[in-house]
Amino acid sequence: MSDRLKGKRAVITAAGQGIGRAIAKAFAAEGAEVVATDLDEKKFSGFKDAKCFALDVLSTEKVDSFAQKVVGEFGTPNILVNCAGYVHQGSVLDCSEKDWDFSFDLNVKSIHRMLRAFLPAMLANGGGSIVNISSAVSSIRGVPKRYVYGATKAAIIGLTKAVAADFIRQGIRVNAICPGTIESPSLEGRIEANAGQTGQSVDQARADFVARQPIGRLGTAQEVAALAVFLASDESSYITGQPHLVDGGMAL
Ligand SMILES: NC(=O)c1ccc[n+]([C@@H]2O[C@H](COP(=O)([O-])OP(=O)(O)OC[C@H]3O[C@@H](n4cnc5c(N)ncnc54)[C@H](O)[C@@H]3O)[C@@H](O)[C@H]2O)c1
Repeated sequence: MSDRLKGKRAVITAAGQGIGRAIAKAFAAEGAEVVATDLDEKKFSGFKDAKCFALDVLSTEKVDSFAQKVVGEFGTPNILVNCAGYVHQGSVLDCSEKDWDFSFDLNVKSIHRMLRAFLPAMLANGGGSIVNISSAVSSIRGVPKRYVYGATKAAIIGLTKAVAADFIRQGIRVNAICPGTIESPSLEGRIEANAGQTGQSVDQARADFVARQPIGRLGTAQEVAALAVFLASDESSYITGQPHLVDGGMAL
């Protein structure tokens, strides 16, 4: 611990597992006061690094009332991390209108909700750092069977740039993190699903995910969290509106 986030308050969505949880832990280790949220509050059982709350980012009403509660009870956040996301597997031919709408609602509109709810207080407080979790699979790279997922993650990069441009003179920085393939509970599910769909063994399906990274391995959530700490901290005070890859060379 080196107190790189000392004196800062952070709100994180989807922090119950995977990348969001690693970010919550890393922020707390760097001295931030962390407000961690997830759809499933049970995932926080035994998690001592943060104040933990249930929050469904699909609900504008819940996001708005949560923001009021946080600002009222704890104070305005200096850092906002929008991590909630879902991977739809398939091409355009597999993507129904319902699949499209759900993916954009959870991956993109949730960020719109969080920004609308927290940005006014952050502006009134003199600014802050916002980190949106996009993906290397976005406007940066196309990979098979990631049609609507890639579209949502590209939209996050556009949204990130738009908000950065609008508020750059008011102390707000907004950046996107674009991970490659990262070990997480949901990735395990995707590996098993791919094995089931293709008739491959789970080991072969895993090897296919690993092969997407020229570095020769999957990334860890801690490696993504290290970048989030940098972007959330004042060390990145001259950096805004950019996608930042942490991808084991996936985008080479
Ligand atoms: N794991 C990867 O390989 C990878 C790669 C690139 C980008 N990402 C992105 O990183 C983010 C986190 O992914 P992960 O794989 O670490 O986590 P994950 O998919 O394992 O966990 C997602 C979390 O989101 C929560 N969640 C689901 N619906 C929600 C809702 N409506 N409101 C609030 N929370 C909700 C779940 O309860 C869960 O705790 C996602 O945006 C994902 O697209 C992941």
